[in-house]
Amino acid sequence: MADPREAVARFEALFSPQGQELLGWLSQQGAALGIDAELRAGAELRARYPADLVVDALAQHELRLRAQPKFGRAGDMFFTRAGLEQASSELVARHRAHRYADAARVADLCCGIGGDAISLARGHRVLAVDRDALHMRMARANAEVYGVAGNLDEAEADVRDVDLTGVQAVFIDPARRTPRRRLRAGDSEPPLGWCLGLAERVDRVGIKAAPGLPREAAPQGWELEFVAVGRDLKEAVVWSPAQATASRRATILPEGYTLARAQDGRVKVAAAEVRTAGVGAVQVRPPGEFLFDPNPAVTRAGLVQELALMIGAWQIDEQIAFLCTDVVTHTPFARVLRVIDSAPWDQKRLPARLRALDIGAVDIRRRGLAGDVDQLHRQLRLSGSRRATLVMTRVSDRPWGLVCLDIDQPGDAAPPR
Ligand SMILES: C[S@@+](CC[C@H](N)C(=O)[O-])C[C@H]1O[C@@H](n2cnc3c(N)ncnc32)[C@H](O)[C@@H]1O
Repeated sequence: MADPREAVARFEALFSPQGQELLGWLSQQGAALGIDAELRAGAELRARYPADLVVDALAQHELRLRAQPKFGRAGDMFFTRAGLEQASSELVARHRAHRYADAARVADLCCGIGGDAISLARGHRVLAVDRDALHMRMARANAEVYGVAGNLDEAEADVRDVDLTGVQAVFIDPARRTPRRRLRAGDSEPPLGWCLGLAERVDRVGIKAAPGLPREAAPQGWELEFVAVGRDLKEAVVWSPAQATASRRATILPEGYTLARAQDGRVKVAAAEVRTAGVGAVQVRPPGEFLFDPNPAVTRAGLVQELALMIGAWQIDEQIAFLCTDVVTHTPFARVLRVIDSAPWDQKRLPARLRALDIGAVDIRRRGLAGDVDQLHRQLRLSGSRRATLVMTRVSDRPWGLVCLDIDQPGDAAPPR
């Protein structure tokens, strides 16, 4: 729909008594209404409701189901496809909103369907700005669902034209796609350079970016935070010096752990702080009994060596982000595996090695070593009783293979060596 006014007018019909009745009926059907049933129901519904209303309500129903992993109140919210795809999840947005705790008035520039605005508006006045009229309208509707609409001031405008007088802190989540297409990697609207320039007007700025953002993109004195939910890397955020508490940070939600390197070189872990002698102290040695696969947020933040110092680990190769110890340590910042076999990479001998270890299934983890994982899976023809992780990597620059077990796996107390 090209005309934004027409899109908003059509959207308003969802709040009419007929629209509410239809959405209510769809929400009672829940996920049970699959795609086929949706098509059949669509035909029946069109006999009772205007065709556009049926199309729009079915689209909202589908998007609400898709939005469930992101929002606790997804079933009552409103989305466009692009708006949902780019929206911050409730969990991530709430984590981020902590940084704004003491700002009385925050601007949420490029607010989209309101994923961040909802979390920011708990306890703050929020100036929410988007040039897309439908997104702006949805942001209000979604803030109503969460009971925070009273704290929202909306402006349907280009963020370049917005007066930021009286705003203490800014959050901006520039678009990484237009409604019709994804922008090239690294591109955003407005571009990162413009977003960084906001700090000349309001000193407290946070900028959301794709997790692939190169570390050099954050200027000196700014913080670069990588946020993962479990091991799923979600986003990068660039914080201006006035909002920064570290130079680089890896945040792992939902547990809420952060590993950060402070501007002065200290390493911060969650609420605690660990003083380190300096990152140069991490050794490079052959694999030990336990292998640590750092969380992608740690790797992207360039904090692997900090993690090594924190858990007393060494690297198996200068270039590879695997760490080892001989004593098991649990850390929220890495997955830990028990190494049961470690040898230079020899693909011919591998099936026999795995058979001898009673391995019947493997997850293959490849880092620093080329190879066709699917083809390798086919070649292995495994039949043992245990599941293992086969790590293809490098040890002091030599191609290497490690066979590892999850440390919680029953029966691994005395692994064959
Ligand atoms: C990534 S989405 C925002 C997602 C939002 N933070 C959320 O959690 O729902 C980007 C939004 O920026 C808006 N946008 C892009 N360029 C803009 C501009 N120059 N001025 C205002 N809004 C803009 C788009 O319309 C889109 O709604």
